[in-house]
Amino acid sequence: MATNKEVRHRVTGENPTLKSEMPADQREGSRGRGLRVAAVALLSAFLAASCATTEEEPREYDESYRPQYHFTPPQNWMNDPNGLVYHEGEYHLFYQHNPSGNDWGNLSWGYAVSSDFVHWEHLPVAIEETDELHIYSGSAVFDADNTSGLGTADTPPLVAIYTGHHKMRSIQDQRIAYSLDNGRTWEHYEGNPVVDDLRSNFRDPKVFWHEDTDRWIMAVALPTFHRIQFYSSPNLLDWELESEFGPAGSTDGHWECPDLFRLPVEGSNGESRWVLQVDINDGAIAGGSGAQYFVGTFDGSTFRKDPETEGEVHWVDYGPDFYASQSYSGMPDDRHVRLAWMSNWNYARNKPTDPWRGAMTVPRQVRLIQTAEGPKLAQQPVEELKSLRGEGVHLKDVSISDSDSAYTDDALEGISYELVVKVEPQDAHTFGLRLRKGEEEQTVIGYDVAEEELYVDRTQSGRSDFDPDFPGPVQRVPLPLHDGGITLRILVDRSSVEVFADRGQVAMTNRIFPDHSSDGIELFAEGGTVRLKEFDFWPLTSVW
Ligand code: FRU
Repeated sequence: MATNKEVRHRVTGENPTLKSEMPADQREGSRGRGLRVAAVALLSAFLAASCATTEEEPREYDESYRPQYHFTPPQNWMNDPNGLVYHEGEYHLFYQHNPSGNDWGNLSWGYAVSSDFVHWEHLPVAIEETDELHIYSGSAVFDADNTSGLGTADTPPLVAIYTGHHKMRSIQDQRIAYSLDNGRTWEHYEGNPVVDDLRSNFRDPKVFWHEDTDRWIMAVALPTFHRIQFYSSPNLLDWELESEFGPAGSTDGHWECPDLFRLPVEGSNGESRWVLQVDINDGAIAGGSGAQYFVGTFDGSTFRKDPETEGEVHWVDYGPDFYASQSYSGMPDDRHVRLAWMSNWNYARNKPTDPWRGAMTVPRQVRLIQTAEGPKLAQQPVEELKSLRGEGVHLKDVSISDSDSAYTDDALEGISYELVVKVEPQDAHTFGLRLRKGEEEQTVIGYDVAEEELYVDRTQSGRSDFDPDFPGPVQRVPLPLHDGGITLRILVDRSSVEVFADRGQVAMTNRIFPDHSSDGIELFAEGGTVRLKEFDFWPLTSVW
């Protein structure tokens, strides 16, 4: 007779989370090991339902490691997000894609749309490579006033600005394609390229409309020179070089995928600041590729970083799997939303997924928050993701001490879920969570009280034999205690963990490749006791 767990695995190919509310008497003021929820009735009901579906074929998007609420292409290779634009009720998501293989190559723009940032409809490849060119990364805008003349007053175009990478000559230039049917079909502009400097490394144009000077601005990278160039244009077709920024900050690797945007500074007197994000490959904070940013001013011509931000490099995300992030243009509300490729060039090509390779982070709303060290970026998953929350487990005021070698609860398990955890260390020197825990696997999100540092340890997180660079060292980031505690929001999916802390000022993104059966969640304290002020767990429903 199979155990409950075995039955569930066999039936669905995954290990769905038990959805249970803690009984009220155990929810508040309960303590440590005593708290174990049987959930027998729920489990029996679940098993009855599961058995009925034993003969069903596994559903699509059910492969090992297939994220259940993060965007992935149905098949084949994906890297950077491209052309993120909202238009006519849809969030358009283009991406670097190999339409005919699961390795980097044949670079084209893959395509999907969503009306809620959560459910995505896959569409045919939007812009295909040509005999001469790979279609490298770039951005897209809605040319509402038809400044380009590529549409009409009645049907203004969506315009994509991408890098053409010449296959035979070692040259990269900036090019235009346009669509008059909301992205479904694209024409290349006859006058391409629109910016050409005969350079072999010149790529990733991010274009936006600059209100104050009434013109388009393009930020584009000179990767090997550690410079970002800014061009201006009245019509998206004729571009003039305005200025250059860099080298600055981290210059250990090539600079790629710039993004420039303005945000209000929360906690200031109505000020706003410009943020220039510059990705770097390699030499980033967690090794390999990553994203740094500069805060400053932009007058439509020149970006100047604030003098007080000299010195320390600011990282958008402190984990190893956050690259090539880009902002949505033309948002229908005043939110600033971005998403990134959840990978790292160090091992991207070897990740053990098939028939696809590559995933995006969840879309994140980004804000600028005033701090003692100047304005800092903060990010949180978009609100829409809350719609995936199933029935959760909620605990309040539970003490965990090192004599409870680990605290867990029968109702707490899963492989696609969200956690919000508010903890106050008392006399413990270390505490944290062991997630995706199996007999020999775990991903640890921990806090070192003396150092006031958050850490993520994926050294035993699951498969790592595919690349020696993958597990990497334990990642550590300063995280001061606030009101004597810390609050973590954690998104776990079949092959990723995203951690947000300190109102989102700290984000750490990791891919992990644990076994399906590694579904345990444990809380631990070392050297003393911690107080779990609040603990919220929600299973997240698959979007597929
Ligand atoms: C970043 C990047 C870009 C380039 C694209 C090619 O990941 O190297 O600079 O445009 O990928 O796929």
